[in-house]
Amino acid sequence: MKQRTPHHHLPALVARVIAGASRTKPADDVLRATLRTAGGLMAAESREVSRAVFAYYRWFGWLDQTLPVEEQVEGALEMARRFGDTPERFFGDELLAHAVPAWAREELDVTPEWAAAIQDEPVLWLRARCGQGEKLSKRLGAGAVHARTEAATTGQFTLPDALLYDGTRDLFQTAEFHEGAFEIQDIASQAVGLVCDPKPGETWWDTCAGEGGKTLHLSDLMQNKGLIWASDRAAWRLKKLKLRAGRAKCFNYRAALWDGGERLPTRTKFDGVLVDAPCSGTGTWQRNPHARWTTTLEDVRELAEVQKRLLANVAPAVKPCSRLIYSVCTLARSETSAVAEQFSKNHPEFAPLPLANPFQPSTPPAPQLWLWPQDTGGNGMFVAAWRRAKV
Ligand SMILES: C[S@@+](CC[C@H](N)C(=O)[O-])C[C@H]1O[C@@H](n2cnc3c(N)ncnc32)[C@H](O)[C@@H]1O
Repeated sequence: MKQRTPHHHLPALVARVIAGASRTKPADDVLRATLRTAGGLMAAESREVSRAVFAYYRWFGWLDQTLPVEEQVEGALEMARRFGDTPERFFGDELLAHAVPAWAREELDVTPEWAAAIQDEPVLWLRARCGQGEKLSKRLGAGAVHARTEAATTGQFTLPDALLYDGTRDLFQTAEFHEGAFEIQDIASQAVGLVCDPKPGETWWDTCAGEGGKTLHLSDLMQNKGLIWASDRAAWRLKKLKLRAGRAKCFNYRAALWDGGERLPTRTKFDGVLVDAPCSGTGTWQRNPHARWTTTLEDVRELAEVQKRLLANVAPAVKPCSRLIYSVCTLARSETSAVAEQFSKNHPEFAPLPLANPFQPSTPPAPQLWLWPQDTGGNGMFVAAWRRAKV
């Protein structure tokens, strides 16, 4: 086996990623490409580069942009270390002023709790097949924690099939991954599947299926029985879904291209329609801190128009008495409550449907679910739902 030697130019690689990232080239894409072409990196070195790049964007609001980038990165890592040691020292106005761009206040509830949550390094969430969480955590070994089992001892509540992974194995090389025993899926996204609560034998439409994160979850919840139409406007995403579905042995789905327009891919009427809409992703600002500095208020407003159009276009495909679910990984008001309220106003045949919060099952159901990172340990996510009237 080829002997690997430690790489001595990690700071230069970090600087190269930062120089290459832009509004049209997200830092995580540039990072992946840079690590791929760097060659000869050990896994721990790749992790070190990634950590430094993300620390830079997470602490960007505190950095002196006139300094050389290597010094800024060192400063960011030092901030991250201090935050890890004494997070309480960062609470307050300073955190609110630096963690996110000023425009965010117009759209989001910028609270100290949220700001502190997104300054933390994110954890990696896995979704086990239904009911298999504990078994999977034993199979994956060190670092794989079945959140429900752990929560039982701490008295917290979490989702049934979620696992936290902080081990060092390359998960993509594991037998469990190739057998489709788990998917890498954020815990808040897992909550969306649970809110949909599809039953075996039903017919669902996952309208913005992308690479199929939610399609696969719906299929598992339906025990592979019934049918899911999975559409997207990006053929390459649906191709990835096909690969994942093969691993997961998910057979009850049909892929279709759909551009989001009035012309729907099928005349089928559905028991449930999920619109997991394209959005600005403000809910992912912990995992994806570069986006804090490239997303604009205009993006938020433009995406809100797309979201309203998608909901209006799919409405006719919902069977009487059946459900329409809207989810987005953003917490910006224009893309969440404003979209839901406009839909309700324009579609009196759809009644807002109160939803139980899967993280707080004892709280009364509400027609709008706001999942904040500080409460779930995952991405920020918004979900709204309606039931179509009988006729
Ligand atoms: C939030 S992502 C979906 C993630 C996916 N549901 C999952 O759980 O893995 C939104 C998806 O909407 C698709 N999309 C964007 N604009 C669209 C449009 N106008 N019509 C249909 N799909 C669209 C994107 O290609 C993207 O895959």
